Amino acid sequence: MAFHFLTAGESHGEALTAVIDGVPAGLGLTEEHLNEDLARRQRGYGRGGRMKIEQDRAHISSGVRWGVTLGSPITLTIQNQDWENWKQTMAVGEPPAGAPAKAVTRPRPGHADLAGAMKYGHRDIRNVLERSSARETTARVAVAGVAKRLLGEFGITILSHVTEIGGVRIGPLEVPWDEVRSRAEASEVRCADTKAERAMIEAIDRAKEAGDTLGGVFEVVALGCPVGLGSYVQWDRKLDGRLARAFCSIHAIKGAEIGMGFEAARRPGSQVHDEILFDSASGFHRRSNSAGGLEGGVTNGQPVVVRAAMKPISTLRKPLRSVDMETKETVEAVVERSDVCAVPAAGVVGEAMMALALVEAFLEKFAGDSVDEIRRNYQGYLDYLKSW
Ligand SMILES: Cc1cc2nc3c(=O)[nH]c(=O)nc-3n(C[C@H](O)[C@H](O)[C@H](O)COP(=O)(O)O)c2cc1C
Repeated sequence: MAFHFLTAGESHGEALTAVIDGVPAGLGLTEEHLNEDLARRQRGYGRGGRMKIEQDRAHISSGVRWGVTLGSPITLTIQNQDWENWKQTMAVGEPPAGAPAKAVTRPRPGHADLAGAMKYGHRDIRNVLERSSARETTARVAVAGVAKRLLGEFGITILSHVTEIGGVRIGPLEVPWDEVRSRAEASEVRCADTKAERAMIEAIDRAKEAGDTLGGVFEVVALGCPVGLGSYVQWDRKLDGRLARAFCSIHAIKGAEIGMGFEAARRPGSQVHDEILFDSASGFHRRSNSAGGLEGGVTNGQPVVVRAAMKPISTLRKPLRSVDMETKETVEAVVERSDVCAVPAAGVVGEAMMALALVEAFLEKFAGDSVDEIRRNYQGYLDYLKSW
């Protein structure tokens, strides 16, 4: 059964909800497994007031009994703590008596506000922004907590770190991935290079001072993937394409690179491709990983490496010009409570999308209704690979 899920919920509605189908039976799972990443998504230098209000916690209401998955659909709910203040504005029933919430009519450039209002026929942009908001990624991160748990059973782990904010880039990082992970986890901007970290924080401070916003780049790495996830036989089974889609589905992500990415376009082939080596101790292996763990849409046993580019946050405290949808007058775009820079948080969402794309490919290859069945399939495959 394929791992798939749906999310629902408005940014200031009562709660975010997700239903996941296709999780095998027999996986140890508690709410705490999901809450750690929810907390990591909320941190990061440059986040706005909203993140101080919300302390996201996932509640599991189906599909798990006594800490173990049943194989039935899992329902997750994350309450919006701010809901108390929005009960009237976001009421599901009749509009409240008295002064109804004023319609939002000044679309923000860089958001779904105007195109979304025109598409769905909404004269109040709140009907668009409540769902188009990146608050939705909270539900994805919770769902991915389940995916990470399952991948973790098979030794696959995922880390992320920020490589660029507002034009400030990290220097070369010649340290093991575990060190990159622990440095990033200890950093306010999730950056593994201390010198760049300081410059990034200063850049965020300057942008904040100026009422402006910043974007950047983060890198997500999956360790422990076996050879053979994804496929070259059909365009929509290629794992690189599926990862690009997964990453570009994150709010504000405008590009995804795999391995050496765009840099490979600038170099001759002799400086790009990873030569194949063999010895009896380690079998087939490579000295480099420019391919980012993917050749022909198939994992090759190397770490899977994806970088994503995030545009600057669209809501500016010093708003850009816009046009009021009702009066057609030139106005300043509406200002919702907003982040100055959310690249560190987006990296955690990137981990989630990596986990979701990988768990789908993993279950395609090693499908089973229970973790034990998957383990048998996986072990059989690893035993077979030893003959190579
Ligand atoms: C973790 C995260 C947090 C975000 N926070 C904000 C925010 O506070 N304010 C804002 O205007 N945009 C924020 N964004 C970006 C917008 O949601 C996004 O630019 C917008 O929905 C339009 O979608 P698009 O940029 O993909 O076209 C955030 C994105 C992510 C991934």
